[in-house]
Amino acid sequence: MSKIHAAITGVGGYVPAYRLTNQELETMVDTNDEWIQSRTGIKERRILKGEGLGSSFMGVKAVAELLTKTNTDPKEVELVICATVTPDYTFPDTANLIAHQLGMTNAFTYDLAAACSGFLFALTTGAKFIESGTYKKVIVVGADKMSSIVDYTDRSTCIIFGDGSGAVLLEPNHEGVGFQDSVLKSDGAGLENLNIKSGGSVRPPSHETVDRKEHFIYQNGRPVFKAAVTGMAGAMNAVLERNQLTVEDITWVVPHQANIRIIEAVADMANVPMERVMVNIQKYGNTTAATIPLCLWEWESQLKKGDKLLLTAFGGGYTWGAIYLTWAYG
Ligand code: UT7
Repeated sequence: MSKIHAAITGVGGYVPAYRLTNQELETMVDTNDEWIQSRTGIKERRILKGEGLGSSFMGVKAVAELLTKTNTDPKEVELVICATVTPDYTFPDTANLIAHQLGMTNAFTYDLAAACSGFLFALTTGAKFIESGTYKKVIVVGADKMSSIVDYTDRSTCIIFGDGSGAVLLEPNHEGVGFQDSVLKSDGAGLENLNIKSGGSVRPPSHETVDRKEHFIYQNGRPVFKAAVTGMAGAMNAVLERNQLTVEDITWVVPHQANIRIIEAVADMANVPMERVMVNIQKYGNTTAATIPLCLWEWESQLKKGDKLLLTAFGGGYTWGAIYLTWAYG
């Protein structure tokens, strides 16, 4: 029997309606549109408003669209993996809440926390369950309500992040298209430059941790910037080399949307023209685990069967990597 590939057979996405513009941020912190656009490429980001709405709310929207588009019976889905660093609760897992709300009663579920690389890690993991022949319908969703962990008095982080969700369906393919290979990396030394200090088991929540604003993202931007460029470019090269490919073979690079200057530097290092790089950071900012599926969602109508895609990301941990896949439809 031919090798089973895990093919993406559909994409769903969701961004909340509220647009937090650079102009509105100018009224909140000491910043300006010119600085934000020239340093990050971001014009606006979406924010999930409304009491009691968490990441699962957006995940449900994205997965509901995915199920409809692919004409999938929720009961046929066997596994749901949600990549997120902003779960609704510490437990139960967000994927479980998404599956419950959409009637995916035969699925088992879990969350995967790898920050901005979460979607790459979850997609690779989900693909293995298909390649091994264990399951036939796996959903991988990236959902992050970054506004729930952003300090809107900290101008160095509040301009960057936004809320959103994207999801893909993975199914077996016997024609050779789909997930091909990935290079994934982790380095816990990244803790010092990108973290949330409290709220975990090391420093449980207390009045003091709240007063010290330790439940918000802390980022030391410059070292993260440098590590992101070398990490993403290195992972892309490694996966290309392993598959005897050059960048000329690649139809689209799908980078994590953290900063337009990072994306341009990675493209420059890898020698990829920007026309072949998906960029929507200007509209959504950095939605962490949702950036890559939201790009696939937006570009879906332009993608053709056999297109070679290189997905790459870098984020908290540190975590980073690249995936090489071929598109299965269109
Ligand atoms: O997705 C997860 C991984 N994260 C990333 O990949 C993010 C990587 N880092 C970055 O994207 C960039 O480092 C930032 C966008 C976070 C910051 O850009 P930067 O060019 O590295 O700026 P900086 O932090 O070195 O700050 C330069 C100056 C500073 O002023 P001085 O010290 O030169 O007077 C900052 O205080 O810009 C100032 N600044 C701002 N000015 C206006 C910082 N934030 C702002 C702001 N508006 N929002």
